[in-house]
Amino acid sequence: AAAEKGGYPSFMEKEINDQPDAVAQTLLGRTNGEGVLTLDELRVDPSVLKSINRIIVLACGTSAYAGQVARYAIEHWCRIPTEVELSHEFRYRDPIVDERTLVVSISQSGETMDTLMAVRYAKEQGAVTVSICNTNGSTIPRESDAVLYTHAGPEIAVASTKAFLAQITATYLLGLYLAQLRGNLFQGQIKDILAELAKTPAKIARVLENAEQVKELARSMAETRTVLFLGRHVGYPVAMEGALKLKELAYIHAEGFAAGELKHGPIALIEEGQPVIVVVPSPRGRDSLHAKVVSNIQEVRARGAKTIVIAEEGDESVREHAEHVFYIPETSTLLAPLLATVPLQIFALELATAKGYDVDQPRNLAKSVTVE
Ligand code: G6P
Repeated sequence: AAAEKGGYPSFMEKEINDQPDAVAQTLLGRTNGEGVLTLDELRVDPSVLKSINRIIVLACGTSAYAGQVARYAIEHWCRIPTEVELSHEFRYRDPIVDERTLVVSISQSGETMDTLMAVRYAKEQGAVTVSICNTNGSTIPRESDAVLYTHAGPEIAVASTKAFLAQITATYLLGLYLAQLRGNLFQGQIKDILAELAKTPAKIARVLENAEQVKELARSMAETRTVLFLGRHVGYPVAMEGALKLKELAYIHAEGFAAGELKHGPIALIEEGQPVIVVVPSPRGRDSLHAKVVSNIQEVRARGAKTIVIAEEGDESVREHAEHVFYIPETSTLLAPLLATVPLQIFALELATAKGYDVDQPRNLAKSVTVE
């Protein structure tokens, strides 16, 4: 078993460290020499993909957060209205679906019953179904019109880590492919984004090199009862995933909030010493989101919060407002979740380890939920 864990104390830690590879493998072989995306395996008639007017992403758990990240990218690149819904909610609300709806399911295992049922239902209603899946030949891809496999390799630890980054990567490929097919982006733009994406495995590796800094903080927080996570834009699903990891692994109450929502409720939770982990957007991004999130950090800090910040390298502006800053390499705003998620995974892993919990087999959870 030690060999299977690649020398790491747990599958979870191995899988977190496998992430540069999981992303690289998922990108591999999906472009030709000229930087044109060639998703040959996606066997849907291009004319059908050109005619779709709506995308619905269906998933559960961590995979649903990958879907939420995907929505920002797909809508921005393809200008196709995109919704993300939990599979079990979608299926039972009489959703509006037709032949021009593309239903993208995301499932690591390909066996999650709720997602399978939702895909079946969407198919019956005439939707075009594409599965993003990490398990070759599993049920959801078999029942879908087409599949785009993530190549993260087998994920053993119950809580998902490397599959999440691979799923996000695959949704970017799908979004860029649709944009290419439908002419929403110039080929040069697609090439630039793919080139940026190709650099992310090395950047994830750099985040992993700084793991000890995150681990030290996590160990010092082993007695914490509750942690809040804030993020905005793509940082919002990252915040929710960070909170989910902490619940799953360390059994600590944790919530992820949209930073803009803070003043509409969550700020009432802030009291002296409350840890708040904030995912800060790049200061180079548009729409001055950076300044807005920095002001959120100031607001919670003024009320006694202990602020822990994930920010882009070179962003010195956050230092004066934070007890701890973890820096991630520069990348474009839409791709940042591939980097910002990693310190949050390490944080949950180490905090759970400090509490003596089995990080590979958290209580009450199953790797794949095959009942409705
Ligand atoms: C379970 C696992 C999660 C996973 C979710 C969805 O709850 O514990 O880690 O995110 O199922 O699984 P799927 O295989 O459909 O991605």
